[in-house]
Order: sequence, then C-alpha cells, then structure tokens
Amino acid sequence: MTPCGRVGEGRKHPLEAGAGNLSKLRVSQGYVANKWRRRATEADVNDRNTIIRVKNCSKVFGRRAQQALEMRRSGRNKAEVERDTGATIGVFDANLDVRRGEIFVIIGLSGSGKSTLLRLINRLIEPTEGEIYLDGDHVSKMPIKQLRELRRRKMGMVFQHFGLLPNRSVLGNAAFGLEIQGAPFSERRRAGEEALEMVGLHGQGNKLPAELSGGMQQRVGLARALATKQEILLMDEPFSALDPLIRRDMQNLFLDIQGEVQRTVVFVTHDLDEALRLGHRVAIMKDGEIVQLGTPEHILREPANEYVERFVEDVDYAKVRTAESVMIPADDVAYPNEGPTVVLRRMRQAGLDFIPVVDDERYFIGMCEVEEVARLAERNERELKGAMDTMTPRVERHTWLREILPLFVEQDVPVAVVDGEDGRLEGLVVHGSLIAGLTTSAELSNGGRTTSFHGGHPEGATLRGSDASRATGEEG
Ligand SMILES: Nc1ncnc2c1ncn2[C@@H]1O[C@H](COP(=O)(O)OP(=O)(O)OP(=O)(O)O)[C@@H](O)[C@H]1O
Ligand SMILES: [Mg+2]
Repeated sequence: MTPCGRVGEGRKHPLEAGAGNLSKLRVSQGYVANKWRRRATEADVNDRNTIIRVKNCSKVFGRRAQQALEMRRSGRNKAEVERDTGATIGVFDANLDVRRGEIFVIIGLSGSGKSTLLRLINRLIEPTEGEIYLDGDHVSKMPIKQLRELRRRKMGMVFQHFGLLPNRSVLGNAAFGLEIQGAPFSERRRAGEEALEMVGLHGQGNKLPAELSGGMQQRVGLARALATKQEILLMDEPFSALDPLIRRDMQNLFLDIQGEVQRTVVFVTHDLDEALRLGHRVAIMKDGEIVQLGTPEHILREPANEYVERFVEDVDYAKVRTAESVMIPADDVAYPNEGPTVVLRRMRQAGLDFIPVVDDERYFIGMCEVEEVARLAERNERELKGAMDTMTPRVERHTWLREILPLFVEQDVPVAVVDGEDGRLEGLVVHGSLIAGLTTSAELSNGGRTTSFHGGHPEGATLRGSDASRATGEEG
C-alpha cells in the first residue's frame, strides 16, 4: 500500500478560519478625521465583509482624458483612443469589492492596467473618474495627511523587488516598516524577529542581506511586509523575479502565513498558475478593463468570453485545482466492528471495490478492499478489522491535485479527504474523478452519483445538483 501520510498543506478561506485574528491585526484608526469621512451610502458598503470597494474607476494618462473616456464609452477601443487623442487609458470603468481577509488577484498581460489599478487603491495614482472606499471611507477624497497615515498604518505595498537596504541587518530590514511607522525599538525588534521566524529565517537577523541567498532575501522582504501588521497588503508581482522553484516555495510560504495572519491581500501577477493558486478570487484585465471577475473555478468553468477562454486554455489543472474540486461524497462507509458479511453485501449492492472505514464520529480509520472483505466473510470472521488497511493515504480539501496524482501511480485505491483538524472523513478522490479534474471543467459522474466541481476556494462545501450550479455561477 502507499505509505500513509497527510499530503499537502491546508488552506482555509478567511471566512472559514477564525476571523478572530483580524481583530488582533486591526490597527488604530486614529487617522480618521470626520470632516471628509463620509459614511458610505448603502450602495457603497452594504456588506461588512467588503474592505475595499472600487467603483466606476477610470484612469487616463495624458491631457485629453475626458475626451478619451467619452470615445472609449462610445465603443472605440484603447488603441483607437490613443491614436486619436494621444491619451492612454490605464484603467477603464473598474468595479470590484475586495472582501476582508481574502487574497484578491489581478491578472492580465503586460500593459493591461494591473499596476495602475493597484495604485488607484492606495491613491499613488489619482483616478480620472470614480471612487475608492476603504472600510467605507472615501479614499479618493481623503486629505493627503490622512492618506499618508492610512498608507503607513493600514495599507502596505510590496513591489516586485522587495528593495532591501544593503547596509542594514536582516533584522533591521525586517523591522524597517515598523520604524517608518514610528514604533519603539523594543517593539520593532520583537515584531521583526517574529516575522523572520514566520518566514523561516530564525537566527539570521544579524546577517547582512548580501550574506543570504536570493530566495532568502526575498523572504526577508516578505517578513518586512508581515512585521508591520498592516491590515491590507497590496502586492505588485512580488515573486516574479524569482526562479520557478523558489517562486513555488514562496507561494506556499505566503499561503501558510496568510492562513495564520489573514491579511487582506490584493496581489498582481501575470502568471496564471500563480493567480489561480493564490487567489480566492481573480480579476482578469485586458486593455484597462476587468473582463472577468470570479473564483478560479468559476473562471475555468465559465470563461466570460473568447479572450478569457484563450487566456486560460493552457492552465495546468493539477496546479490550480484541489481535492475539494474533484472529491465525491463518501456515502457508503463501514465501521470496524461490523461483520464482514454485512459489509460485503453492502459493497456488492453498491458495486464498490473499496469502502472507507470510520468510527462512530466519522473519523477516518482506513480502507477495505472488497476481496479482503470477502476473504474474511468466507472465514466467518466476526469483525472487519482484519481487512482494514490503515496506512492508506489521506489528504485535505485544499491539497493540490499535483500532490494527489502520485498517490494513484502505483495503485488505484481511493484517497480519503479528511478534515484537516480532526481527521473526519469528508469525501473520496477516486481515479476517475481525479482524471476528469485534470482534463475538464465539466461535471463529473460517478456510478450514478453526480458531483459537481467546486473550487478549493471560498465558500467551500462540496455541492451537488442545483446548489452546485448556483455556487459556480458565483461571481463576486
Ligand atoms: N505614468 C504613466 N504615464 C503614461 N502611461 C502610463 C503610465 N503608467 C502606465 N501607463 C499606461 O497605462 C497602461 C497600463 O499600465 P500598467 O503599468 O498598469 O500595466 P500592467 O498591467 O501593470 O503591466 P506590466 O505587467 O507590464 O507591469 C499601459 O498602456 C501603460 O503604458
Ligand atoms: Mg505592472
């Protein structure tokens, strides 16, 4: 049998995992001045989970901005507008809500407007039109002093090259953001060390950046962003300078840390695998416009148009889908003290080659193969235990398919999907469902039972029938 073990790391959606962490991170909102602070209207914030709202935002670079927008609205494309007016449309009529604690990814080709959109959020770039709200506060109308305070306390930005200070120690770099925030020395030191530990650089604090490898330096940069405890992180292609292996490490590290600290992250990338891997939701941009916004699964299943379809056609499903998206419900289970004859009968009736064994509380114990059960039945054994393989692999909902694939190489035994915390059986990945998940976005049929795909992302549960089509139609 395949060696036992838990495969992959869990990945929880913030709304699923203890939202309590957020309150710890919530920084002082003392920068708020009432004069300009307009409590948003019902349309602005009707959802407590919305932390950033971008409303009808456009940014035109160049003089004839209004004319350019009018032309664009009348149906002319970005290139035509640019040719006729000399103005460049950076972002056109963007609308999006970022939910508290989610990783929101913006993806698109070079020049599609990703960085511009990101910079509109913290007003490094002023919108030509439209509004941006942060927790209901009107960022686009904020006086500059408060805006600076907001950037310092609440909303950090991480660029492609983390920009370490070469003459400062690793710890000094990790704590640099806090220094800018004016935190006292002791706090800087503590938070800096804590952050270094999080990124696996414990004990390296006294070194200079140049004494570390490229990947380690990148981790110092991540530590710096984490140490500040800003509630929102805007990240512009933070991993793009890394080679693919280190990049994957950083993505995993980032997901791990994010699972613990749950910042709200707006993450820009032009790498589709990265987007689908990291994002709870993804916005795809083209020529300054958001052409589709939804969960990774939604985008893969229902590309909004031909452009998105082409954009996602080469995606490697093994890297971006999780156990959850291919698991089937474990409706038939057996208990260890049941008689083999009874279980055999059930298995034959349902046409099962394998049956998972669970205890009274549905904790997964092992897997039984029909032939083993038959052997015990023949010998008139009383209990099923003798047929049970307890070394069978188990994974979590959020385990990537690429980690599950090798488990099927040597044998064709269903893989148990268990609850990360206590090992309760949640479903099974069977060979057929896995293959379907790697090759198609269509529905998956299993011996008369139909399980719909649902991304390893936000609202979580495996759904069936009409629930599923509603859920995957989810947009955001
Ligand atoms: N400061 C500027 N002045 C004039 N045009 C600009 C400016 N910044 C961006 N643009 C234009 O706005 C459009 C969007 O640029 P942006 O930098 O947002 O693209 P991007 O999606 O981040 O691209 P990349 O993947 O190359 O970083 C492009 O056409 C670009 O030329
Ligand atoms: Mg950019």
